[in-house]
Amino acid sequence: MKTIFLIGFMGSGKSTVGKSLSETYHLSFIDTDAYIEEAYDQKISEIFKVYGENVFRTYEQEAIERAVTYDVVSTGGGIVERETNIKTMKNNGKIVFLQTSFTHIEERLKQDVNRPLWHLNDRTAQISLYERRNRLYMQYADVIIHTDDKSVEEIVQEIGNNFSLSGR
Ligand code: S3P
Repeated sequence: MKTIFLIGFMGSGKSTVGKSLSETYHLSFIDTDAYIEEAYDQKISEIFKVYGENVFRTYEQEAIERAVTYDVVSTGGGIVERETNIKTMKNNGKIVFLQTSFTHIEERLKQDVNRPLWHLNDRTAQISLYERRNRLYMQYADVIIHTDDKSVEEIVQEIGNNFSLSGR
């Protein structure tokens, strides 16, 4: 089958949903952030601090290029920052946007210290990043799933229905 790429803002649940989707339908799964942390043996927040965002984006580009052999891929929120990543996803499968409202994101990331582009930004910058990214996710998505007030199981079911997956 073609790959299902999950995109969306930080805290939209891409990793949790991707893992659960792969377990429910017996599919192979990779998370680009987890891949990077393992490959470079460093936390993403450390990579940002020591080498900067641009180096992280290069690692991320390499990760998405390697990820195309998997059935389900959870991406980092900034995957849409490089045009070439969009091409990689479009050429190898379908893009599913997990759309979560800013209020829900804010609630989920309240205590987070592992996402530099969130916790090192003030609220105005967080809102403007959210709005800019939202436009990109909308532009590139093949499928949009609203996640507010839905359980992981409901979201997984909705994605499964969209792709006529059968499992369990
Ligand atoms: C980022 C999102 C993070 C991670 C990095 C940068 C972003 O992933 O890749 O901190 O630019 O939005 P999650 O979306 O899984 O939090």
